Amino acid sequence: MARYLFFFFFSFSFSFCPMVLSELSSNQKTTMINLSKSLNVTSISWDINKEPNPCLGKGVGCNSPSNSSVIQISLFGVSLSSSDFLPLVCQIESLQILDVSDNHLSKIPSGFLSDCGKLDGLKLLNFSYNNLDGSLPVFVGFAGLEFLDLSHNRLSGAIDLELDGLVGLKSLNLSLNRFNGSVPTRLGKSKVLKELKLSMNMFHGIIPVEVVGYRNLTLIDFSVNDISGSVPDRIGELSKLEVLILSSNKLSGEIPQSLSNITSLTRFFANSNKFNGPIPAGITKHLRNLDLCYNTLSGSIPSDLLSPLNLQTVDLSNNRLNGSIPTALSPSLVRLRLGSNSLDYVIPTAAIATLQHLTYLELENNTLTGLISPELCYCQKLMLLNLAQNQLSGSLPMELGKLSHLQVLKLELNLLTGQIPIQIAQMSKLSILNISWNSLNGSIPPSVASLKNLVNMNLQGNNLNGSIPENIGSMTSLMELQLGENQLSGDIPSMPTTLQIALNLSSNLFEGHIPVTLAKLKGLEILDLSNNKFSGEIPAFFGQLGALTQLILSNNQLSGEIPKFGSWVFVNTSGNEGLTNSTSPESKNKGKPIAPSIVVLAVVAAFFAGVWTLIAVSVNGRG
Ligand SMILES: *[C@@H]1O[C@H](CO)[C@@H](O)[C@H](O)[C@H]1NC(C)=O
Ligand SMILES: *[C@@H]1O[C@H](CO)[C@@H](O)[C@H](O)[C@H]1NC(C)=O
Ligand SMILES: *[C@@H]1O[C@H](CO)[C@@H](O)[C@H](O)[C@H]1NC(C)=O
Ligand SMILES: *[C@@H]1O[C@H](CO)[C@@H](O)[C@H](O)[C@H]1NC(C)=O
Ligand SMILES: *[C@@H]1O[C@H](CO)[C@@H](O)[C@H](O)[C@H]1NC(C)=O
Ligand SMILES: *[C@@H]1O[C@H](CO)[C@@H](O)[C@H](O)[C@H]1NC(C)=O
Ligand SMILES: *[C@@H]1O[C@H](CO)[C@@H](O)[C@H](O)[C@H]1NC(C)=O
Ligand SMILES: *[C@@H]1O[C@H](CO)[C@@H](O)[C@H](O)[C@H]1NC(C)=O
Ligand SMILES: *[C@@H]1O[C@H](CO)[C@@H](O)[C@H](O)[C@H]1NC(C)=O
Ligand SMILES: *[C@@H]1O[C@H](CO)[C@@H](O)[C@H](O)[C@H]1NC(C)=O
Ligand SMILES: *[C@@H]1O[C@H](CO)[C@@H](O)[C@H](O)[C@H]1NC(C)=O
Ligand SMILES: *[C@@H]1O[C@H](CO)[C@@H](O)[C@H](O)[C@H]1NC(C)=O
Repeated sequence: MARYLFFFFFSFSFSFCPMVLSELSSNQKTTMINLSKSLNVTSISWDINKEPNPCLGKGVGCNSPSNSSVIQISLFGVSLSSSDFLPLVCQIESLQILDVSDNHLSKIPSGFLSDCGKLDGLKLLNFSYNNLDGSLPVFVGFAGLEFLDLSHNRLSGAIDLELDGLVGLKSLNLSLNRFNGSVPTRLGKSKVLKELKLSMNMFHGIIPVEVVGYRNLTLIDFSVNDISGSVPDRIGELSKLEVLILSSNKLSGEIPQSLSNITSLTRFFANSNKFNGPIPAGITKHLRNLDLCYNTLSGSIPSDLLSPLNLQTVDLSNNRLNGSIPTALSPSLVRLRLGSNSLDYVIPTAAIATLQHLTYLELENNTLTGLISPELCYCQKLMLLNLAQNQLSGSLPMELGKLSHLQVLKLELNLLTGQIPIQIAQMSKLSILNISWNSLNGSIPPSVASLKNLVNMNLQGNNLNGSIPENIGSMTSLMELQLGENQLSGDIPSMPTTLQIALNLSSNLFEGHIPVTLAKLKGLEILDLSNNKFSGEIPAFFGQLGALTQLILSNNQLSGEIPKFGSWVFVNTSGNEGLTNSTSPESKNKGKPIAPSIVVLAVVAAFFAGVWTLIAVSVNGRG
């Protein structure tokens, strides 16, 4: 933040009177010249020979409006590896801000600590993103230091009194280092600390109750450490707390009820711990974001937990919650994740239908019953709907087609019946459609071929009949097509050449020759045609499908000689009475199979990363 302020000030004043000379004392000017010389000027654009006024140098900030002294030096991201220049900086008595982040510095010289410790005006030190190692140095003096950022280094060992002398410390960031020992409690005698980030270290032991002594704390981030025990109930005394992040530790016991007393608390994350017992009522009274997923919380969800007006995101998935989903829901909800619990009864659709901001609804892997209500289509912002692995019955309402922003629809492993509505094709943004393992019947509507963004289509394990729509080849994003375990028959049309992950037509009623159009699927990795009535020879072109790793042809009526395949291709031809092994080592398929392309795999991976990033980004945008 500080650096942007400086640049603003810099360009602002520059545009007004570029000719005014520096009024820096000659002493500061020499120091700046000396400093400039000791740095590798080729790597920074601050060259005292070209620009004699140090206040005009990039990364230098002077006081406004007189320019009588240097107050800021920002040397971030300029590949500095030697720390030798650091003590020189301390000769600038007026210095307030020093930012040397994002370099290759491996130490803070003792000369720097002793000399800069005497600068009462020094407010901010930023050493983040360097290679600092060893233990935390002792900070003596630094009476005015408010912001200390040592994050993203390799500092190690335990922390005891090293920071205790920092009487003005308001913001401490030690994230992403290798600190161990217990959570430090001596963080400035006068206890004015507001922001404390200790995430991604190896701190262990309990959360010490002494933390509560820092009454001005607004932010605590202890995530990704080894902290255990229960959270002290007195944490509720931190009346200014806004953000509390305890994720990915070994914390246990109950979520403290006292959190409900903190009226300023907007974000509470305690996911991936061992918290147990019921969720206390009232803890969301003031919250915007709550994440308690991956714990062992039990009992039912308190009836007013999801109702507070400011609540935007709630994640309670992967716990042991039972009972029904509360019907009182916040109109601000953007994301609601309750998957992998033991929630039962029906989905409170009437309440959900009023949520105009709801973008992610995930209720999968529970024991929810009843129908999928057409009213869900009123949630116009929905991008992801996951109701998979429940006991939902009835048919797929055609109104779902109105969810024009939907990208992911997962309804697999339910008890759905009836036909796939043709309106499904209206969800033009859809990228994942999984309605596998239900009891859907009728034929696959040809309109699905207009889903140009669909990447995965999984209709496996239903009672679908008829033939595969002829125009399926026009689905230009499709990488996975799962149609196994249905009653499909007829001609197999030309498939999208984008298919890569799998084409599964197994356990259907297909017959006749294996279609030659499959020869175009150059990127395909898994082809499963098993348990049909395919006859004739195994086409030689299979040997040229360079990406193929699995070819499953078992239980058909194929005959003739089995072509040769590369050793990396798993081929299953069992249960075809007419097949014989080739006798000569020189088989009749000439073209040598190409080694499976790693690039293809990478492209698939990148694509999926893209889809999920998009979703994640839009969630965080509101969080
Ligand atoms: C102060 O320095 C800025 C550049 O940082 C310059 O544009 C401005 O003219 C100077 N003002 C005075 C009063 O010297
Ligand atoms: C600058 O460097 C010169 C020569 O190295 C030295 O004599 C002088 O004391 C230095 N001045 C300051 C202010 O650092
Ligand atoms: C200065 O930086 C350049 C480019 O990063 C590097 O090649 C050179 O070795 C550096 N010189 C010194 C003295 O650090
Ligand atoms: C320190 O610098 C990093 C990266 O350059 C920046 O993200 C961070 O906000 C800075 N810290 C402070 C306290 O200004
Ligand atoms: C803490 O880290 C230091 C330095 O890496 C190491 O020597 C020490 O054994 C560690 N202590 C514990 C309890 O892990
Ligand atoms: C470290 O934490 C402080 C306080 O929250 C924050 O201002 C700063 O940006 C963080 N540093 C980095 C590199 O993210
Ligand atoms: C907290 O902040 C206030 C003003 O923001 C300040 O007066 C007070 O001394 C600080 N420290 C404690 C422990 O309350
Ligand atoms: C909440 O604050 C009130 C008033 O300070 C106090 O009486 C009560 O015990 C607190 N509740 C919890 C759960 O800490
Ligand atoms: C929920 O689970 C608790 C045990 O954790 C049990 O006592 C309670 O009867 C269950 N409630 C329902 C509605 O199943
Ligand atoms: C479903 O939920 C149970 C806990 O209720 C969990 O153990 C299991 O891993 C979940 N299954 C999936 C596929 O997420
Ligand atoms: C669809 O659901 C099936 C059955 O749970 C699962 O195996 C498959 O990975 C799912 N596919 C997608 C893309 O969600
Ligand atoms: C072909 O040979 C393999 C091993 O060499 C054998 O397992 C398989 O049963 C044979 N298949 C036929 C149809 O002879």
